[in-house]
Amino acid sequence: MINIGIIGAGRIGKVHAQSITSLVPGAEVKAMADPFLTRETATWAQNLGIPHTTEDYREILEDPDIDAVLICSSTDTHSAISIEAVQAGKHIFCEKPIDHDTAKIREVIRALEGSHVKYQVGFNRRFDHNFEALQRTVSDGRIGSVHLIKITSRDPQPPSPEYVKVSGGMFLDMTIHDFDMVRFLAGCNATEVYAEAAVLVDPAIGETGDVDTAVITLKMENGSIAVIDNSRQAAYGYDQRAEVFGSNGMAAVSNDAPSSLVVSSADGVTGEKPLHFFLERYMDAYAKELRCFVQSIENDTDTPLGVMDGLEPVRMGLAAKKSLLEHRPVKISEIE
Ligand SMILES: NC(=O)c1ccc[n+]([C@@H]2O[C@H](COP(=O)([O-])OP(=O)(O)OC[C@H]3O[C@@H](n4cnc5c(N)ncnc54)[C@H](O)[C@@H]3O)[C@@H](O)[C@H]2O)c1
Repeated sequence: MINIGIIGAGRIGKVHAQSITSLVPGAEVKAMADPFLTRETATWAQNLGIPHTTEDYREILEDPDIDAVLICSSTDTHSAISIEAVQAGKHIFCEKPIDHDTAKIREVIRALEGSHVKYQVGFNRRFDHNFEALQRTVSDGRIGSVHLIKITSRDPQPPSPEYVKVSGGMFLDMTIHDFDMVRFLAGCNATEVYAEAAVLVDPAIGETGDVDTAVITLKMENGSIAVIDNSRQAAYGYDQRAEVFGSNGMAAVSNDAPSSLVVSSADGVTGEKPLHFFLERYMDAYAKELRCFVQSIENDTDTPLGVMDGLEPVRMGLAAKKSLLEHRPVKISEIE
């Protein structure tokens, strides 16, 4: 049995706690830590069968019975807690992004060197059944060599301006998942990024200095070209699609809906809207990424997404920010 401590009892920490309890065989949540732990959350954890809650994550790191930690706290704490967890010899699943600052991610990389600690980054979309099938099709060579990758990623509603202010901006908060998806589908890194963006959804987002609508083009190491389009608000809901076009054909995946219901009438033909947002669409993917993490500990194998997979999308996000600011294509090599 792999004993797990969860650091951060917010939205995603609770999702992971629920997944482990019901969907991840061979693992148990032994403790949950959050400096702003409320009585309500402590009761929630107790009801889920988590024996210990604390305001101090170091209690988890010092507990010899804990094998692994899930770092689900606010982004600005991930790199420092990662380093402490490596020093404590705990295996680590860290939510994305590891940090907004590549220098801090490199400190985590250095801390991991020579250790036996497993490290996995929470790019959950790789474990979504649609994107998994698309990637498998491409890597099996069924569409030949990859020429074009198109990703559509639009949220159903924008976050609050308060959230936007501390989010690191749309490219590092939202597009970061798409940057990871482009690498996953292409099977290689990006070499160059060009971003066009605007504030078309909410002027309050613009007042924070961020954007809410963007098109990003990327050149990949294998010569393929990728395009990502993002919006913080799609009127019809959470829109998560991808297409890969290659020398022998094309493969594409669409949205998941609550059902395949289609109503045909004299007024037209309508189907259901996509599943509401990430918690609905990616629930299975969240559980699967944790099953893979636990299996890599049990079998002493590499995790499916290592620390370098945490670094590259941040470089791509910083390159996109620079591209927008300087209005030019930016090479990834310009970002250290
Ligand atoms: N992979 C995904 O799809 C996904 C989805 C949502 C969030 N996230 C990531 O997960 C992280 C948390 O996001 P969230 O939406 O759950 O935020 P949240 O604000 O709901 O929860 C964060 C929690 O961390 C706690 N915290 C802050 N400092 C801490 C510390 N030192 N030790 C322990 N807990 C601490 C806060 O009190 C809060 O309860 C962010 O980095 C975010 O980018 C990933």
